[in-house]
Parts: sequence; C-alpha cells; structure tokens
Amino acid sequence: MRPALLYRRHVASSLRRAYTARTEPPPPRQTRRPEPVNSTSPVAKSSSANKSPAAPPSSLAPWIFGALAAGLGFYSLQLYLAASKPYHNTRIADLAAQKDVAERYDYTATNFDSEVGLSELLMGVNGLRKKLARKCHGDVLEVSCGTGRNLGYYDIEGKDAKVESLGFIDISPQMVEVCQQKWAALFGNKMAQQKLKPGLKLRFMTGSALGDMPMAPSGKKYATIIQTMGLCSTASPAELVENMARHLDTSNPDSRILLLEHGRSYLPWLNRVLDNSAERHAELHGCWFNREIGELVEKAALQSGLEVVSERRHHLGTTWVFELKPTEDAVKKAQAGLPPVATPQTNEREQEGWLSKLGWK
Ligand SMILES: C[S@@+](CC[C@H](N)C(=O)[O-])C[C@H]1O[C@@H](n2cnc3c(N)ncnc32)[C@H](O)[C@@H]1O
Repeated sequence: MRPALLYRRHVASSLRRAYTARTEPPPPRQTRRPEPVNSTSPVAKSSSANKSPAAPPSSLAPWIFGALAAGLGFYSLQLYLAASKPYHNTRIADLAAQKDVAERYDYTATNFDSEVGLSELLMGVNGLRKKLARKCHGDVLEVSCGTGRNLGYYDIEGKDAKVESLGFIDISPQMVEVCQQKWAALFGNKMAQQKLKPGLKLRFMTGSALGDMPMAPSGKKYATIIQTMGLCSTASPAELVENMARHLDTSNPDSRILLLEHGRSYLPWLNRVLDNSAERHAELHGCWFNREIGELVEKAALQSGLEVVSERRHHLGTTWVFELKPTEDAVKKAQAGLPPVATPQTNEREQEGWLSKLGWK
C-alpha cells in the first residue's frame, strides 16, 4: 500500500482512537531502533483530493457565531475561575516536585497531532516552528522530535539546500514511528524523484537525549541541534540543554542550538492558572507547562559555554524561542581540542526594558 495512503489511514485511525486511548494501559516501552530511511524508500503520492468543504448556508451564520461566542464566554469564565483559585500546591512549579511523565507519549503518540494541531494552528505556532527550522544548517539533529511536527520546514530541497544531514531522536519509539511514517508521506515521492538535497542523510533514532547520542554521519558533532516543546517533557531539562551543548560542534562559531519551548508566563494570574492545572495536565499529556524556561535555559547555557543570541517570548510570555551559540572562548577551546569551560556572562534579561516583558524584544 502507498505510504501516503497508509499515512492518511493512520491519521484517520488516530482520530478514531483519540477517544479511547486514555483508558487503555500503556504498551511496554520498546528498545527497538527504527531502521534508517534511505533513498530507496517507497514512493508517496501527493494528495490531489483536497476539496474545500461547501460553505454553510447564510441562515446558519448567526447560529455559528452565537455558538462561537458562547464557547468563548464559557472558556473565559473557566479561565477566570481558575485564576481566582488559591494555589492548591504551592511547590508545583519546583522541578523537584514534578514527577517524570515522559512515558505518557508511548500511548498518546497516535493522537498527538490531532490533540495539538488545532491550538498550534490558531496560535501561530507553526509559523514559529518554520522560522526556527529554516535556520538549521549543516548536520542537523532534532532532539525530542516527537511526531515530526517540524518535518515540512527544513531547508532540504534542491542542491543548494543548507541542511546536509537530518537526524531525529526521541525516547518514545511510538513517537519516532509516527515521525518516520510522516516523513514517508511528505517526502517519499520527492526522494524517489531526487528532488531533495543530493546525498542528504536521514536517520530516525530511539533513545534518550539525556545520554550519549550518535555523532553526525560526517563523524563530527552537529552544526545545529534543534528542539521544540521538549523541556516541558523531561525530568531533567537543564541537563538536556547541557547534553545538547556536548553534542554541538563548538569549534564552529556558526553552530547553533535552537529551542522553541513553552512554560511560565510573565503574568501572575496566568501562572496561577498554569500552576493549578499543571499536575492534571502533566498526567494526561506528559508535559509540565509551568516551568521557568528562561531562567533554566540561561543557566544551562552559561554552564555549557554557550551564549544567548536571542530570546523571544510570545503568547503572554508562555512560548519561548531561543538561539544559542558557542561563546568565543568555547570556540577557541574547541579548536584547540580543550573541553569548554563556563565563562561568566551578563544576564541579558536583567537589562531588558518593559517592551521585552510584553514579548516585543
Ligand atoms: C511535547 S512532545 C514534543 C514533540 C515535538 N518536539 C513537537 O514539537 O511536537 C515532547 C517529546 O519529548 C520526548 N522526550 C521526553 N524525554 C525525552 C528524552 N529524555 N529524550 C528524548 N526525547 C524525550 C517525548 O517522548 C515527546 O515525544
């Protein structure tokens, strides 16, 4: 069966399973490493059956708008009630109080895209993903890749494409499997027609981004390491950033770690909502959305000989975008074959004005 068809069936069955998955016990975690995909991957046909749905009759419009307004009102009321509740667990934002929920993805993998797709679309997250992925160059490693929500955005087409190799790693074999199927559906055809960068190397790996990860196919460390929405899902977020730094080619001043993350807001009332619902959200979705991401990344960068090139916040401060690069000192040390040592640096955020607090840095 064609991969595109397989993928569409896979998505359809994911949607059907979405309502039952939460009651099923998690399948045992496998240690199998998926086979690398090569240029002989089966061909995927692009969809030509995208017909736009018929417009609703105009008499329905007031009902639709009414329902939307009622939904929005109900949502705002819930938000207000949640914001006015006192904290039920004052320590819930401390990492030490947050249990490891990463295994949750083993059995939400097939539903993941349908669960986050609409909210990400409405919030413009796909645009942020695209902007970040387009910065990737050279040997690229995406850690905590999940279902491959960034796959469509890498610069991999044509001979002048910036990406030389693409590696995807995630601790959940189920997430990696969805990612690999998505690749086949999106790029199987283009690979067969040799439209991708000649010699582009591709690898899908199951493993923890907290441990030793394979070197790039060139035998070197990576020119770009990217992670999106990963620091919320590990028990050791600072160690994860530090481990990315260990796998980065710090002898190259153009090397980058790119992060798109989510966490605490700069608004106290919103943090109250996040803190009050964090435990339930983590148990259901495997993600702690109330972490102080800025502080965490800045400290880890400092520890690892990295400097923050840019740090931006969106969505009332809950979405964070970082670009990190090796410090001059780290570059010199790596070029001389010495291990990187932390260099004290000024905390950029302490110098920010009020505009940056609104996410307009
Ligand atoms: C919220 S999902 C994000 C997935 C994807 N990056 C995205 O942007 O949609 C978090 C992912 O991190 C993975 N993860 C958690 N701990 C990990 C670890 N130690 N090493 C690698 N992946 C990990 C989970 O399996 C899950 O796929």
